[in-house]
Amino acid sequence: MHVLITGGAGFIGSHLVDLHLDRGDKVHVVDDLSTGSRDNLAAHLDRPDFRFSEADIVTWSGLQEAVGWADRVYHLAAVVGVFRVLERPISVMATNIAGCERLLRAVNDCGWRPQVLLASSSEVYGPRTDDYLREDMDLIIQPEAPPRWNYAISKLADEAFALSYARTKEIPVTVVRLFNTVGPRQTGRYGMVVPRFVRQAVDGEPLTVFGDGTQSRAFTDVRDTVVMLDQLAEQSTTDGVIVNVGSGHELSMNDLALRVIERTGSKSQVERIPYEVAYGQEYVDIPHRCPDLTRLHQLIEHRPRWTLDTTLDDLIARARHSEGAS
Ligand SMILES: NC(=O)c1ccc[n+]([C@@H]2O[C@H](COP(=O)([O-])OP(=O)(O)OC[C@H]3O[C@@H](n4cnc5c(N)ncnc54)[C@H](O)[C@@H]3O)[C@@H](O)[C@H]2O)c1
Repeated sequence: MHVLITGGAGFIGSHLVDLHLDRGDKVHVVDDLSTGSRDNLAAHLDRPDFRFSEADIVTWSGLQEAVGWADRVYHLAAVVGVFRVLERPISVMATNIAGCERLLRAVNDCGWRPQVLLASSSEVYGPRTDDYLREDMDLIIQPEAPPRWNYAISKLADEAFALSYARTKEIPVTVVRLFNTVGPRQTGRYGMVVPRFVRQAVDGEPLTVFGDGTQSRAFTDVRDTVVMLDQLAEQSTTDGVIVNVGSGHELSMNDLALRVIERTGSKSQVERIPYEVAYGQEYVDIPHRCPDLTRLHQLIEHRPRWTLDTTLDDLIARARHSEGAS
C-alpha cells in the first residue's frame, strides 16, 4: 500500500510512519517541521520505501502528485499545542482550514479515491461538561470566543469540509476526534502535560500544574492510537463517519503529577501555577473530558496494549537516557 502522511514528522504522524513501514508499505511524509522534527524520522530517511518532503501543506507544489500516488492519506498537519494556539490565533485558523480544504480538493481532483483519515480533536466538544462526550452531541461555541477556541473552530471547519466532500463527492473520509494522546516523541514545548511532568520529575524539579489541578483528562498511548487509526481507515463502513478515539480512564492533573512522582521515585514537589501566569493571558480550562467510546467499539476491536502506568514507566526510562529532551 502507498501511504501519504501530512504532519508525519510530528508526534502521532511519526508513529504512523513506523507502523506502515514495519508492515512493508511505502510511505511519503510531508511536513514543514514547525512542531515536528527530522529526528522523529531519522531511522527511515535513507530507506527506498520512504520519502520525506519538507513543505507547507498550504503551498506544497507536490500535493496533487502525492495524493494521486496514495492508497491512503492521513491528514495530521496542523498548528497544535495550547502555547502555539494562543500565540498564533490567526495561523491556526488559516493553516488548519486551508490545509485541509486543499488536501480534500486534491483528493477530489486526483481521478480516484484514496482512503482519507482526518485528525480532528476532542477540543471540538468545547466547554461541554457531560460525563462522556458523544459524537452526535450538539456542540457549543461561545460568543466572542477567546483565542483558545480558534483551534476547535478550525477543526470543526475541517470536519464540515470532510463530511461535505464525503457526501457530495463520495470521498471515503473518516474523521477521528482524538482525545489526549501521549507517548514517546511528544514534546512538552507547546503545552503538553505528560512530557513536562516526566521531564520535571526526572530532573528533580517541581511539577508545574496549571490552574488548581482538579481538571481531568483521559490519556491513550500513541502506539495504541495509531493501531486504531489504521483499523478505522481500513474499514469502508467508516466513510463519512466521525469517531472518538481515546480511552475511558480519566484522572486529574493533581493525580497525574503524584503518579509521575511516585513512578519516578522523585523528590519533586507539585507547584500550582495560575493559568494567567502559565499562558500569559486569561484562560478558561475545561473541568474534565472523557470520550464515549461506544461508536469506536462498534467499528473496531482493539485491546489497548498500554496502560497509563506502563506508558509513564517507558517515558521515564527514556527521559533518564536523554538530556534536556521534551
Ligand atoms: N496529540 C494529541 O493528543 C492530539 C489530540 C487531538 C488532536 N490531535 C491532532 O493530531 C494531529 C497530530 O498532532 P500531534 O500531537 O502529532 O502534533 P505535532 O505537532 O507533533 O504534529 C503536527 C505536525 O504537523 C506539522 N505541520 C504543522 N503545520 C504544517 C503545515 N502547514 N504544513 C506541513 N506540516 C505542518 C508539524 O510540523 C508537526 O510535525 C494534529 O492534527 C492534531 O490536531 C492530536
